[in-house]
Amino acid sequence: MCGIVGYIGSKNSAEVIYNGLEKLEYRGYDSAGIAVISKNEILTRRSVGKLKNLKANLETNPISGNNGIGHTRWATHGKPCEENAHPHTDCSGKIVVVHNGIIENYVSIKKQLISEGHIFKSETDTEVIAHLIEKYYKKDVLEAVKSALKEVRGAYALAVICADEPERLIVARYDAPLVVAKGKDENYIASDVSALLNYARDFIFLENGDICEIKKDSIKIFNGGKEVKRETQKILWNAVQAEKAGYKHFMLKEIYEQPQTILDTFRGRLSSEQNTVLLDGINITKDYLKEISKIYIIACGTSYHAGLTAKFVLESLTVIPTEVDIASEFRYRDHVINEKTLVIFISQSGETADTLAALRLAKQRGSKTLAICNVVGSSISREADNVLYTHCGPEIGVASTKAFTGQLTVLYLIALDFATKLDTISKDKLETLVKYLWDLPVKVTECLKQADAIKKIAKEFHAKKQFIYLARNLNYPIALEGALKLKEISYIYAEGYAAGEMKHGPIALIDETMPVMVIATKSKIYEKVLSNIEEAKARGAKIIAIVNADDKEIAKKADYRIEVPETDEIFSPVINVIPLQLFAYYVSTMRGCDVDQPRNLAKSVTVE
Ligand code: AGP
Repeated sequence: MCGIVGYIGSKNSAEVIYNGLEKLEYRGYDSAGIAVISKNEILTRRSVGKLKNLKANLETNPISGNNGIGHTRWATHGKPCEENAHPHTDCSGKIVVVHNGIIENYVSIKKQLISEGHIFKSETDTEVIAHLIEKYYKKDVLEAVKSALKEVRGAYALAVICADEPERLIVARYDAPLVVAKGKDENYIASDVSALLNYARDFIFLENGDICEIKKDSIKIFNGGKEVKRETQKILWNAVQAEKAGYKHFMLKEIYEQPQTILDTFRGRLSSEQNTVLLDGINITKDYLKEISKIYIIACGTSYHAGLTAKFVLESLTVIPTEVDIASEFRYRDHVINEKTLVIFISQSGETADTLAALRLAKQRGSKTLAICNVVGSSISREADNVLYTHCGPEIGVASTKAFTGQLTVLYLIALDFATKLDTISKDKLETLVKYLWDLPVKVTECLKQADAIKKIAKEFHAKKQFIYLARNLNYPIALEGALKLKEISYIYAEGYAAGEMKHGPIALIDETMPVMVIATKSKIYEKVLSNIEEAKARGAKIIAIVNADDKEIAKKADYRIEVPETDEIFSPVINVIPLQLFAYYVSTMRGCDVDQPRNLAKSVTVE
């Protein structure tokens, strides 16, 4: 969603802010702007469209000052246009704000402010904050912000500067991420760590309700009317990690990072003998696990597919009934969860609004909660009772890849940990599965070597208008995930289906215009999948099959084969998703689509 960057120090803040906003382009946006304080007045430049338009604006009409804020906007209230682009000012033009999130009661506030004589220039909810601060401003912008936010309901990551107080940068956060980065005689703020990695390493992740006064040489954080301390975290990501590292797109880089990110995610969570799981940092005991009646997994999109896969793994290894739900459905259904339910929330960004809302509902019901996130300090990771991080580094491509296999890795560790605690797995079986887990990075590397073969197949199919992805059992969620990848980055309509369901209707779709991708690796239901391939082939479909290298059976039936290494069936989803990620990537590039920032999508859906 939107991006925020701010700076106060001795550099020209406009330059620092622009560089930071460039690192946030992946978040999706439709306009951008920067405001600085120069000789006790606010200078603002805003442009619609890509950042390069703002750059041209700044080159034509340069601004400079040591205290500034900037923003990339993803429209929620008011169309994408210059008037609606942030920053927004009050009537005097001396107070300027940038904001992420949604002010739920902005209409009533705006009405009241207009009745008090305020003149609005935009359709945005954000502008009401500027005028509210003006209303309460009595030569102390920090106090004015505190008073203004008392009237606001909703989510905000907010940055405010005031021309009459050039030494102060005020920020506040509620349900929208905001970080402060410490420099030497300078300080930075941003909605996302990756904006500032070229400048700083020491970050403070603000908490809900934090309101901060930032000067170039001090940071004061207030919450609930008193000053509070927040820990500083050293973030070791280097700027290159957040760059493309030589790949054409972030997505391709992140697909190729998976052997490393899977390893990074389970490393340190296995015993030194490499045969048992050590899940530190979560408070989920054997007694608790014996007491619970079920596990409930809640997520959205690709993370939901990870949850669907985990259902098979958890039920098979721990024998605990496991349900999986889409967060936006869960939060409005009459669900049955209580203190005997362990609720697991999966979210790469840790900021997905529906998943966060579902987390809060689960906590109200007294359920113990466990989050699986990729972003340290994200809202979901901090509000859950327990959190296990995927160690994937920043995932920049909107289409999730390494975060997905990272989530699966954590879910395997959880299943093995729980099964050990519940004694539902033998020592030998545990050691065997841990060995397969260790082998995953090598096997994923082998899959990646199929890239050229996959690219050739993609060339055959990149002009198709539709696709069906078929699989069974714990690879059925991988069919859903493969279809989602193709949909979201190539805009081809693709549907994932349980292969056994085809006869109940969808087989009517099959003819020579409907290509079929089938996951047909060795499994207990391999023969069933074979018959599904024959059914589709008999109706004229071209078949692409994901198969194990030594599979001769399929060779006779599939038109195209993508070979993947064998593994224990329970880990096959991690292997089988790799060719589907690459296939979608190549089809998308051949169709000239914007792989990293597909149309209509944002990296993190922080609004309902
Ligand atoms: C994945 O490719 C999509 N971009 C999207 O479905 C994503 O998985 C979903 O929005 C959930 O995001 P989260 O994991 O950050 O909560």
